[in-house]
Amino acid sequence: MNIGVIGTGYVGLVQGIVMAQMGLNVMCMDVDKKKINDLKNGIVPIYEPGLKELLDHHLETKRIDFTTDMAEIINFSTVLFIAVGTPANEDGSADLEYVENVAHEIGKLINNYKVIVTKSTVPVGTGKIIKGIIRKEIEARNCEIDFDIVSNPEFLREGKALQDCLNPNRIVIGCETEKAKEIMNDIYGSFNTNQPPIVNTNIETSEMIKYASNAFLAVKISFINEMALLSEKVGADVQTIARVMGMDGRISPKFLHAGPGYGGSCFPKDTKAIVSIAKNYGESMLVIDAAIKANEKQKNKMVEKVIDKLGVENNINGRVIGILGLSFKPETDDMRDAPSIDIIKGLIKAGAQIQAYCPKGIKESKWRLIDYDASIKYMNDEYECSKGCDAMILMTEWSQFRGMDINRIKNNMKNNYFFDFRGVFSKKKELMESIFDYYTIGN
Ligand code: UGA
Repeated sequence: MNIGVIGTGYVGLVQGIVMAQMGLNVMCMDVDKKKINDLKNGIVPIYEPGLKELLDHHLETKRIDFTTDMAEIINFSTVLFIAVGTPANEDGSADLEYVENVAHEIGKLINNYKVIVTKSTVPVGTGKIIKGIIRKEIEARNCEIDFDIVSNPEFLREGKALQDCLNPNRIVIGCETEKAKEIMNDIYGSFNTNQPPIVNTNIETSEMIKYASNAFLAVKISFINEMALLSEKVGADVQTIARVMGMDGRISPKFLHAGPGYGGSCFPKDTKAIVSIAKNYGESMLVIDAAIKANEKQKNKMVEKVIDKLGVENNINGRVIGILGLSFKPETDDMRDAPSIDIIKGLIKAGAQIQAYCPKGIKESKWRLIDYDASIKYMNDEYECSKGCDAMILMTEWSQFRGMDINRIKNNMKNNYFFDFRGVFSKKKELMESIFDYYTIGN
């Protein structure tokens, strides 16, 4: 079966390469000519462990090809995955412009039966909208061409994208016809080992599952972040609380790590989108709304903590703060909605000078924080980053920070404040307190 993937962002590119790995013939399409040219030459535009190696392999097996030509990919494919971006509008709703443009193009160019699959996270009802657009375009050509619409959300995590995509814990297929269901089950029924359960449902349920899953995880994080703030006040330890809560199988210990707030391309966008979808239907998502607010509060609290310790009357003028980790999570170069952005802005506004280091996030930080450039120096490693600092903030839990020489960090510093926003060293709290004026989250 020939598979087409439209959009080569995180989701589309990983999907395409993984489908090739599953033995299917894949063509990926993007309007960005440079990106497509690079991909044809094995150059991956994002940092995702293992992705380049797998791409190189399938460029050799010739199971994957790239194009900028919509007609070519439509001719080639029986199943077309739409994986273009759905950025947030000002009001939090999802911007469907790219998805709708693709639907128009498909309607203009489709020539025989195809299954059109939404892989992008799209609001409930988008499947029907796409169907309407394609149908109208076909009618405008005075043709009769059969096609089916399917919703097949992606649950991969950045930094673990290949692992998640090759070993998913569930496959969700939302469709309207037996024919589409059979084709989709055929594609996903071929995992060599550990065949995941396939949940067949209708399009709307499938579209909702994705939002419900992401929103629930965001709520879980905001919940534990609020517990962390309270734990600090009452003298409790949030990591022990989370661990013991997690022993209850109904709760699970996952996504209960307190931190500086969730970020990334999904949780912030999807939580706002589901609130906006609900509003359109006259409903309110009170719990998710509270999680969004708690996440904003969490980032502000992190800034307040530093100012409380280092400042005089809310002023940290001239204080030098080292930031370890900029990306929204480890093993990615993605800076979209990273908590580091708001926290760095808050610290600079209060007068701080920033020295930042991140294994992969510096390139993107440079343009995302361009307006603050005069107050930020980017450093080559954690040791250079700590030179002359009053305080260090461990912002993102890259594994290289876990093993760093903390005495060397201390010796490089001018002062000895250490803010561990991920609780990486909280198990060594006594040691940390003997070296630094140490703050760890929720304890
Ligand atoms: C998330 C979901 O986990 C994926 O299942 C989903 O497919 C993806 O969104 C998507 O919709 O495409 P991702 O954004 O890559 O994946 O990253 P996560 O690992 O979920 O982390 C999101 C944020 O939550 C990060 O800022 C992370 O630091 C934070 N987080 C996560 C915590 O603060 N505490 C935790 O316990 C877990």
